[in-house]
Amino acid sequence: MTVLVFFLYRNPKEMLAKVADKVSVLRMVVDRQSKFEATIGLGHTRWATHGSPTTSNAHPHISNSGEIVLVHNGIIENYDALKKELLKKGYQFYSETDSEVLVNLIQDVQQAAQLPIHKAVQQALDRVIGAYGLVVFDKKKAKQMIVARLGSPLVIGIDNSGFYVGSDPTPFLAYTKSAIYLKDGEMAQLGLDKKIEVRRIKNDEKLNPRREELQWNMDQIQKDGYDHYMLKEIHEQPRAIRDTLRGRMFADQGKIQISSINDFKNRFVEVKRIIIIACGTSWHAGLVGEYLIEHFARIPVEVEYASEFRYRNPVLFCDDIVIPISQSGETADTLAAVKLAKEAGSFIYGISNVVGSSIPRETHSGIYTHAGPEIGVASTKAFTTQITVLMLLALKLGELKGKLSKEERTKHLKELAGVPDLIDTMMAKKDAIYAIAKKIHKSANCLYLGRGLNFPVALEGALKLKEISYIHAEGYPAAEMKHGPIALIDEAMPVVVIATKKGHYDKIVSNIQEIKARKGILIAIITQGDQTVKELADYSIEIPESSQWLTPFFATLPLQFLSYYIAILRNCNVDQPRNLAKSVTVE
Ligand code: BG6
Repeated sequence: MTVLVFFLYRNPKEMLAKVADKVSVLRMVVDRQSKFEATIGLGHTRWATHGSPTTSNAHPHISNSGEIVLVHNGIIENYDALKKELLKKGYQFYSETDSEVLVNLIQDVQQAAQLPIHKAVQQALDRVIGAYGLVVFDKKKAKQMIVARLGSPLVIGIDNSGFYVGSDPTPFLAYTKSAIYLKDGEMAQLGLDKKIEVRRIKNDEKLNPRREELQWNMDQIQKDGYDHYMLKEIHEQPRAIRDTLRGRMFADQGKIQISSINDFKNRFVEVKRIIIIACGTSWHAGLVGEYLIEHFARIPVEVEYASEFRYRNPVLFCDDIVIPISQSGETADTLAAVKLAKEAGSFIYGISNVVGSSIPRETHSGIYTHAGPEIGVASTKAFTTQITVLMLLALKLGELKGKLSKEERTKHLKELAGVPDLIDTMMAKKDAIYAIAKKIHKSANCLYLGRGLNFPVALEGALKLKEISYIHAEGYPAAEMKHGPIALIDEAMPVVVIATKKGHYDKIVSNIQEIKARKGILIAIITQGDQTVKELADYSIEIPESSQWLTPFFATLPLQFLSYYIAILRNCNVDQPRNLAKSVTVE
């Protein structure tokens, strides 16, 4: 559940609204309040870490003196010890949150040495262990806001009327495209006089931050007439893939032009091992990358869950290349894993969709997917553009390693160039997929099976269904079915099988017969014109014929639509499913 707040201030007036519900409900609450011209406004959507999602745990938290106001995104790991200290000094706490401890610590430090607010924040943060993106202001000196970040993202929007602060630029893009991304360990004073001062928290060093012009516009953020962002983003995939390929591949000449690789050519030529680190859907894209890179470049690839990798004390070598994949560029576990690998001396080559976000800024080099803003929590176009980049990377590494001739590269690049148009043609299948969704949307469980490159796609299909319809779904390598999941199959179990002609076809047909023998409801993703599996399946969705290396593009789309329509039929909130966030910036 999301907890939202809105706080407006203009000395001596203030207005506070908190709801444990959706933005639309908060808007109603705010509209009922008496209006006044505010000089400072704070809003916050809370992801519950310390303390359940209640209004008392909602931000902003106000210090015991009633004067210091704070919103905080992150986790204060030593909050308990700090709280005990403050309790001994007579401080009282009204929530279960670590953030309330922080605002009272700032008050305590301020009062102890009569410090100006920015100094008090600095000294308080010196005592904090953990992650934060925070906004603080002192009602006594309500002519400025203090912002600071370590681990959690924070970006400042600037226009003639003043400053906007967000975890990412989306909330203020309608007002300005000029922004400053605060780096880790930095803080800023934002004045009503439109003055901004950026300093390093640790040593108070004055900094000269770079002001960036944001690429995206409001149109790209609107729903363009689609019912949901997810549906819009599914339809945007052909454009997103074209934009991601643009200027990077010249199919007729068999040429791949990726400057971020050329700049570090030797690193890539000498690489002995590639380690891909990611979370969620990005991890599934990483698995597809493993198949592609090992096949085309013959370089061993390991795909790691970032959350496990960061604590496993992994064995890293300086001639490893570590590839973090992250749509948002802000996922806390992936960011931490990057820092760990960097400290160990590995070369970090990032894949991300958000220019200027934290992970790209931690890497030595990298490449952006050009999916445009992805708003729907369930990732769609980011996945297919990540696969696009991984295919380019695999072919380029194959070239650098001398494993792929120009003819072969040309063949694969020409096929890759045709992917967006073919996906475009597949959009017409959505009604047929809706009809299948109507048949199975009441199911409690669902299995997804695939072989080879279709295995990660099966995992992704299952994740999509879990994320937005709350049906318990599992993806498996089809052959693994016999070692357990087959026990789940009966006449009530839908089984989605990706059975494309290229890549282990005969084997997948025998898996299908095993499912049929146990009366499972078979939904098959088949290659155009395949009658064999079509006759075996209860429902089938045809996809274009392609080389096995490109099937993930075509097999993913029907699974995105299937999960979308099932979620709609179950009246689920497709764009903001329960318990999920677009980017998990806390551990
Ligand atoms: C989850 C999102 O929070 O994070 C998923 O809901 C996403 O869609 C995952 O795949 C990883 O995020 P990112 O931004 O690191 O790719």
